[in-house]
Amino acid sequence: MAKQILVTGGLGFIGYHLCKRLLVLEPASEITVVDNISSTKLNYSDLLGYLKLHIQDVESLPDDLGQFDEIYHLASPVGSLGILGKSGRIAGSILGLAEKVAKMATYSKSRLLYVSSSEVYGRNGQQLESVEQIVPCKRGARMEYALAKLTAEHVLLNLAMEGDFQLRIVRPFNAMGEWQSSNIGFVIPKFFEAALAGRDLQVFGDGKQIRSFCHVSDLVDGIIQVQAKGKINNIYNLGHPDNVIPIAKLADLIKELCASNSEIRYVDPVSLYGKRYIEAFDKIPIITKAIDDTGWRPNVNLKSGLTRILNHYLEIAGPQIRHPIEANMPQDLNA
Ligand SMILES: NC(=O)c1ccc[n+]([C@@H]2O[C@H](COP(=O)([O-])OP(=O)(O)OC[C@H]3O[C@@H](n4cnc5c(N)ncnc54)[C@H](O)[C@@H]3O)[C@@H](O)[C@H]2O)c1
Repeated sequence: MAKQILVTGGLGFIGYHLCKRLLVLEPASEITVVDNISSTKLNYSDLLGYLKLHIQDVESLPDDLGQFDEIYHLASPVGSLGILGKSGRIAGSILGLAEKVAKMATYSKSRLLYVSSSEVYGRNGQQLESVEQIVPCKRGARMEYALAKLTAEHVLLNLAMEGDFQLRIVRPFNAMGEWQSSNIGFVIPKFFEAALAGRDLQVFGDGKQIRSFCHVSDLVDGIIQVQAKGKINNIYNLGHPDNVIPIAKLADLIKELCASNSEIRYVDPVSLYGKRYIEAFDKIPIITKAIDDTGWRPNVNLKSGLTRILNHYLEIAGPQIRHPIEANMPQDLNA
């Protein structure tokens, strides 16, 4: 019988690229995707016909939807802007989803890969999986998201220790890539769309905040490698430690790549989005554990990743792309 794979959130940015890679790597498998299309809207027509698709909320699924060998759980409220709109309901959603996939994984005795987030570190700098977690004294949507992701990790680890499914967890740092949405708060598509349209690139604060960007092709490889070779009940950082850049320099770089005459404008995000907005901490991954245990390594450097995205805008999407479901959301939020 063909290997059965379930991807939750498979029509989102990372899930779409993950499904495409799985279809190539596992041509004999059957892939089921569940997505309620509540977030990123992208054109997934190239996947249709190759997947079993359930357009519905993961929480409404029966525990016995299928006998899955592998589950990749990505469905979640996402993005600094996406979560701001769901403030107060983020944690309930993340934990409800985790409990549901645990039941589905228990039913099938599956391998379960949970996509958590580097936000769980909650502090500046380089981060190791073994670091002791701290809870910053901040109140806002980002903290609700970070703490819920961390709690979901603990819920799943505790349930997995009862032995009914085999758990691995990844903590991605910032991702970049083709089809990432500007409208739920991701900075790279925001800068590209502004630079290509001749609008100002809005940099939050002094622009010195540091991010490291991992191309989605590398990230999905890492997710698949951890599912296949990661140690059971272990957590793995996934990111690209060499692709580190302050946001102001990222704006310069994207402007230059686009040969754009746009201005760079420094703005206070709190004045735009209110006190529930919290700027992310500086994020720099340490990925030695993933490299040692799985052999995975990211390959796409920042400039080639950005060039791929630029080509995608120019050749396929066009700079004015707007996703209908996101049209009513507030604009201009840096991730
Ligand atoms: N993009 C990043 O930089 C990044 C970094 C760290 C972690 N992550 C994690 O990776 C995962 C995927 O993120 P993404 O960037 O692809 O976001 P995305 O918003 O593009 O994808 C998430 C998908 O999940 C779906 N979804 C949300 N709630 C659902 C529900 N209740 N039932 C069914 N479907 C639901 C959405 O419709 C969307 O298609 C998330 O778990 C996110 O927390 C992303």
